Amino acid sequence: MGRMRTEGLQLWTNARVATLAVGAATPYGLIEDGALAVQDGRIAWVGARKELPLALDDAAVEHDAQGALVTPGLIDCHTHLVYGGDRAAEFEARLNGASYEEIARAGGGILATVRATRAADEESLFAQSRRRLRALCDEGVTTIEIKSGYGLSLAEEAKCLRVARRLGASEGVTVRTTFLGAHAVPPEFDGRPEDYVDAVCRMLPALHAQGLADAVDAFCERIGFSAAQTRRVFDAAQALDLPVKLHAEQLSDSQGAALAASFGALSCDHLEWLSDTGARAMGQAGSVAVLLPGAFYFLRETRVPPIALLREHRVPMALATDCNPGTSPCTSLLLMLNMGCTLFRLTPEEALAGVTRNAARALALDDRGVLAPGLRADFVLWDARHPAELCYAVGFNPRRTTVIEGRIA
Ligand code: NIG
Ligand code: FE
Repeated sequence: MGRMRTEGLQLWTNARVATLAVGAATPYGLIEDGALAVQDGRIAWVGARKELPLALDDAAVEHDAQGALVTPGLIDCHTHLVYGGDRAAEFEARLNGASYEEIARAGGGILATVRATRAADEESLFAQSRRRLRALCDEGVTTIEIKSGYGLSLAEEAKCLRVARRLGASEGVTVRTTFLGAHAVPPEFDGRPEDYVDAVCRMLPALHAQGLADAVDAFCERIGFSAAQTRRVFDAAQALDLPVKLHAEQLSDSQGAALAASFGALSCDHLEWLSDTGARAMGQAGSVAVLLPGAFYFLRETRVPPIALLREHRVPMALATDCNPGTSPCTSLLLMLNMGCTLFRLTPEEALAGVTRNAARALALDDRGVLAPGLRADFVLWDARHPAELCYAVGFNPRRTTVIEGRIA
């Protein structure tokens, strides 16, 4: 840290910078002995130290990265982080023989968390959720998506989305909110799923008017909503110009991915049962495949998402925690990097692109996810030599420093 010359311009040197830029000359866009110039919260320049323009060299607060690996700030593009309670008892029940679907059909599962979330006041929900967010941020997360879906009424969904917005403000990270009203049918609509879908469609304009929803999601599954019901929710989203995403083909091929792609979905998520038709449709629509190895692992699934098919159809792949109490009580995006590689056989470079560049795309954020001039100066310094180390270690956190919009967080 050093000499103050021109106010507002900072230089980070002695860094091994993994830009993750598309079409870079080296894997990961890795630049040895790299430098990053930052101004007004944006990247002004990035490249090899010896190519640094003279003007930038002369006008900077200099930070010595001491050989650290620098990557874009990590982006967790699929979470249900705001919820009340936990489901450890169900975890136990599953170990005693019950299945996730059986528990859900018996009124447990998502509905158990709906009861706990409704019972929690906004302050306690905020406090419970903040602990999870802080754990994620401790591993370099600078942008996160948070879904509703445990309130299932206008007031309760709004409560959860407000908590999500507040978390972003209090922790200084970007929070993108997604309305997942079509997550389960709440008890007051028991046996009347169509009426509940109507109610979801009516909640949407109200939440939109309060600025609480950046996107709309649904759970298209035999224990969730049919493709026809999902379409109704998507029509309502489209009427408000809100982008859609979908929990698709997690437990069965419900043909959600092709439907979502026909709405230009930002992403289709889970995808263990994705078909060739679904993958092709996603490729054509440019929808991101958000892979969630934590849920795959926790539910002890055996069917791996069709990675080869996704590669073949050039579907960008992202990785996320799916942080939720039922299928992925996980607050480690680094662990997802490892599981993406070990369980799904992604290459470390694909995995890392999955928590940076492609995760940004799944959230329609084109100002981040790679380190390039003009983009946000969100980056992380790691005690690592090579990017693959971030995927390789299990349960180890090499984060040294996080920088958000040019400021050390
Ligand atoms: O992404 N699949 C639907 N939703 C969550 C699980 C929700 C829950 O069990 O509480 C998921 O896996
Ligand atoms: Fe999910």
